[in-house]
Amino acid sequence: MISVKSEREIALLKQAGHIVALCLEALKEHVKPGVTTYELDQICEKIILENGGVPSCKGYEGYPCTICASVNEVVVHGIPSKKQKLKEGDIVTVDLVAGFKGYHGDSAYTYKVGKVSPDKEKLLDVTEKALYEGLSKVREGVHLGDVSAAIGAYINQYGYGIIDQYTGHGIGREMHEDPVIFNFGTPGTGPVLKEGMVLAIEPMVSLGTKDVRILKDGWTAAMKDGKPSAHFEHTVVVRKDGYEILTTL
Ligand code: MF3
Ligand code: CO
Repeated sequence: MISVKSEREIALLKQAGHIVALCLEALKEHVKPGVTTYELDQICEKIILENGGVPSCKGYEGYPCTICASVNEVVVHGIPSKKQKLKEGDIVTVDLVAGFKGYHGDSAYTYKVGKVSPDKEKLLDVTEKALYEGLSKVREGVHLGDVSAAIGAYINQYGYGIIDQYTGHGIGREMHEDPVIFNFGTPGTGPVLKEGMVLAIEPMVSLGTKDVRILKDGWTAAMKDGKPSAHFEHTVVVRKDGYEILTTL
C-alpha cells in the first residue's frame, strides 16, 4: 500500500529533506584529496544534530554510521572509515537519511575528488540526468512504470549497467516504504501515482556490468567487475501536475 501524506506530514518531510540537503551542500567544499570518509560522516552528523534532526541510518539494522560513503566501484552502503582517505581522481557517493519529528528525507550525490577521468565525468552526468529524466514523468495519474522506464531508457542509450539489486522506495515515517522503484521498466505498468505520495528515486549506474557483490563487512556493495559506479537520489512528493523535491536547500 502506498500511503498518501497530508500537507502537515509533507511539511515535516520537507524539514527532514532540508537537513539532508544542508549536509550534501556542505560536503561540496570538504570532498577533496586527503579527507577521510569518516570526516565526511562526522560533518554530516554534526549538521543533522545542530538542526534538530536524527541520523536515521545510524543503528538501522545495525548500520554503524550517519552516511554511506561509496568510493569508485562501491555503489552503495560503503561504511565510512578513518583509514579511507580520498584521493585525486576518485568519485565518492554520499547517501544519507535524516529524520525530523519522525519523518525521513533521503538523498544521494556522487562527488568528484579533484579532477576525474572523462569516463567518470560522463558516468556522473548520465546518472544525474537519469534521475531528472525519471522525475520529469512524475505527476498525479501516471504509472510508476513510466518513471522507471524513463530512467532505464536514458541510461541504456549509453550502454551503462543499471544496478537491479537496489531500488528506490516510498518514504515517510519509515525510511523504506512501498512502492519499490526500479530504475528500468515498462510504461503503463505498476501503481498509478497520486498527489501526496512521497518517493525516493535513485538511479545507480555503473560503467560496466550490473552485477554487485557484498563485501565481508556485510554492507559494502561493490561492482563485481571493479568498474566505477554512481548514484543520485532525491526524495520528492507527487503533485497534481508534477513533483516537488523535498531534499533541497
Ligand atoms: N539511502 C539508503 C537506502 O535507501 C540508506 C541506507 S542506510 C543503511 O538504502 F543504514 F541502510 F545503510
Ligand atoms: Co534511498
